Amino acid sequence: MKFQLENGFLAYDQIGNGTPLLFIHGYPLSRKIWKPQMEGLADIASMIAVDLRGHGESFPFAGPYPMDLLADDCIQLLDIVNIKSPIVVCGLSMGGYVTMSLFRKYPHLIKGMILTSTRSGPDSPEAKSNRDLGTQNVRDHGVAIIVESMLPKLVSPITISSQPNLLKIIRDIMMETSMNGVVGALQGMKDRPDSTPLFPHIKCPALIIHGADDQLISYREAEVMNQRLPDSRLVILPEAGHLPNLEQPERFNQAVLDFILTLSQD
Ligand code: MLT
Repeated sequence: MKFQLENGFLAYDQIGNGTPLLFIHGYPLSRKIWKPQMEGLADIASMIAVDLRGHGESFPFAGPYPMDLLADDCIQLLDIVNIKSPIVVCGLSMGGYVTMSLFRKYPHLIKGMILTSTRSGPDSPEAKSNRDLGTQNVRDHGVAIIVESMLPKLVSPITISSQPNLLKIIRDIMMETSMNGVVGALQGMKDRPDSTPLFPHIKCPALIIHGADDQLISYREAEVMNQRLPDSRLVILPEAGHLPNLEQPERFNQAVLDFILTLSQD
């Protein structure tokens, strides 16, 4: 399904019955990464998966995409699908940064958060200059150059040898990202605020899921977030890299299921 914003269309899927659960993908990916969750959790959650601006089927949207803007897009989507009650938000990596913006701007709308493969801190000076290099690179050579350099780092080495088909699926998803999307996201992530001071104020229950073999964001960042959050639990998944929901879908879904069941008891 699609709906129109002032300068483009946002695409999303909606399925299932139960606790409202919004999935926000990472960069440069799309809502397609949540397929194992949309299929496996439909009995317990009313799920929405969105394509952020410039990603998947959401187009054309010139950047930059500040994380707060992406959070506002999600709020417009919730309005379109008529969700008024507090929701659980599950954000992966950049989607986690958007989740933090959502909490910063609309804390009353969040009843639980699932932070996957993400971090609370801002970019280091080195990371910022890498974002600028990436922006130049994609403008000069197209999206494929980013895809090929990122792909081997996105999953665990074990996934590369045991699930070669999955790598192809991930490559295809990444290749659907527009140049606007890559550049807009790089600029938005580069300027994102430090969410670390926010963490002690996140009083809603939180689940942190991280791949033990994540090469982009170390699981140590997950441990730091877990220490700072007042009400959180940490699940580190073995044999998973930056995309644990795709690499270890059963274990990932079990962690989400347990979390949602606990939320329903509160
Ligand atoms: C992502 O997976 O969304 C990005 O790699 C996050 C980042 O670059 O900070």
